[in-house]
Amino acid sequence: MVDAADIRLGVLGSGKGTNFAALADACMAGRVPARIALVLSDVAGAGILDLAAGRGIPSMHIPPGRFRTRLEESAEAAYVEALRAAGVEWVVLAGFMRILKGVFLRAFPGRVVNIHPSLLPSFPGLESWKQALEYGVKVTGVTVHLVDEGMDTGPIVAQAAVPVREDDTPATLHARIQAVEHTLYPEALTALLEGRARWVARRGPVLATGSSGS
Ligand code: GAR
Repeated sequence: MVDAADIRLGVLGSGKGTNFAALADACMAGRVPARIALVLSDVAGAGILDLAAGRGIPSMHIPPGRFRTRLEESAEAAYVEALRAAGVEWVVLAGFMRILKGVFLRAFPGRVVNIHPSLLPSFPGLESWKQALEYGVKVTGVTVHLVDEGMDTGPIVAQAAVPVREDDTPATLHARIQAVEHTLYPEALTALLEGRARWVARRGPVLATGSSGS
């Protein structure tokens, strides 16, 4: 059994922060065996920072540097320093819209998790729900995965399907995807923290049912 007080999470986000809020609530309710020690954003004034402040969770904007799609190396170092100072062991990306590279990933090896609004490897990148609608798929969904240096790549931990309706707009489809995200992320994260998601050769980590000892 994992002691909830022992695992400290750092959450990174660039936007509204609804996934952060769902995780924070799940931690508070004891459904995720951890607590959120720090929230960081590359976007000044992002909703996620306000939501963190409203919950009394330390939060900070750290400028990303001069690149558009990733953090500058010195910015990565600043993120790592802030997370380490807060005692963070696992990093949870919740709508963080920049790619993380070596400096960051080496600081938290195998301990950076992301949620993406599609069934990867379909529709990586931005506004995946729009990509899904434009392509005409009948089913899309949500993926939780460990983060490597690629864009929305890395071993898949959990996925859930979301049917696309005839009358869906980007907004209605994204809303249904987000509702699924808010339950899948706490569940998948808990499986990782409790050691129930483990590496299976060639297939990435799979969620094992039953005890972690088998
Ligand atoms: C979520 O739908 C998340 O899956 C997506 O950004 C949204 C953030 O919403 N992430 C990505 O597209 C990452 N490639 P939130 O700020 O309300 O949690």
